[in-house]
Amino acid sequence: MGRLEGKVALVSGGARGIGAACASFFAREGAAVVIGDLLEKEGASTADQIVRSGGRARFERMDVTAEADWDRAIATASRNYGRLDILVNNAGIAIARPSFFEVTPSDWEKTMAVNSTGVFLGARAVAPLMKERRSGSIVNISSISGLVGISASAGYAASKGAVRVFTKYLAIQLAPFNVRANSIHPGVVRTDLTAKSLADAAAMKRNLELHPLGRVGQPEDIAAGALYLASDESSWVTGAELVIDGGYTAR
Ligand SMILES: NC(=O)c1ccc[n+]([C@@H]2O[C@H](COP(=O)([O-])OP(=O)(O)OC[C@H]3O[C@@H](n4cnc5c(N)ncnc54)[C@H](O)[C@@H]3O)[C@@H](O)[C@H]2O)c1
Repeated sequence: MGRLEGKVALVSGGARGIGAACASFFAREGAAVVIGDLLEKEGASTADQIVRSGGRARFERMDVTAEADWDRAIATASRNYGRLDILVNNAGIAIARPSFFEVTPSDWEKTMAVNSTGVFLGARAVAPLMKERRSGSIVNISSISGLVGISASAGYAASKGAVRVFTKYLAIQLAPFNVRANSIHPGVVRTDLTAKSLADAAAMKRNLELHPLGRVGQPEDIAAGALYLASDESSWVTGAELVIDGGYTAR
């Protein structure tokens, strides 16, 4: 019996990277998964791979900053799978600048809209359903940049910090209905988001030094934590910060 048998999950930004790993792990453990993303080709292909491995998944094009897209993704989950138990708020962007002096208001607004407002809209869209069923798990992907001031992007730091405390607010608000909310704080993980910086040998060497375990993360390292928080194994865990960073913030 899978760890998510009979459950239904929506993973934003699930077309590739950490979100795609979450979707695959969840499906392998018995969940039906709706993958919501802007990237239609990658999203359809990730859903297709899951189905070919015997899992249940569908792709729904969505922009996490658009309320109507959330409603559509949730309708897809309800129509095809009859319910929604898990939301992974994973979609995110980063606009890196060499220093604070180069950051523009537009960089800030764009990043906040996806990384912060997107998480709020997702929680707002699923909470009534979960409240009604008196069961649910919301997993918000923040970052170690939401814990300490290391980001190369001002909006990224602020948006991920906002996700950290918003998650605790959600946990308190939704606890009376047995709906849980937790955040995950990954260190540097090898995905398309970090590919450019990790391709640089000097940056890679610096990253290896910054992570005491001596390697950068893989999407699966984060998906394993998301799986735990999504499952009933964490039924007494809410408002928690799960740091998965190879020891980066331990110093
Ligand atoms: N890779 C890392 O080192 C790292 C570290 C800490 C936190 N994170 C966080 O993990 C999450 C996933 O990142 P990743 O590394 O897999 O990056 P990624 O770029 O590979 O994946 C992000 C996905 O989000 C989607 N997305 C972006 N904007 C969207 C929008 N408006 N609506 C819907 N989908 C949208 C993208 O199309 C993409 O598929 C992000 O929230 C990121 O901030 C990543």
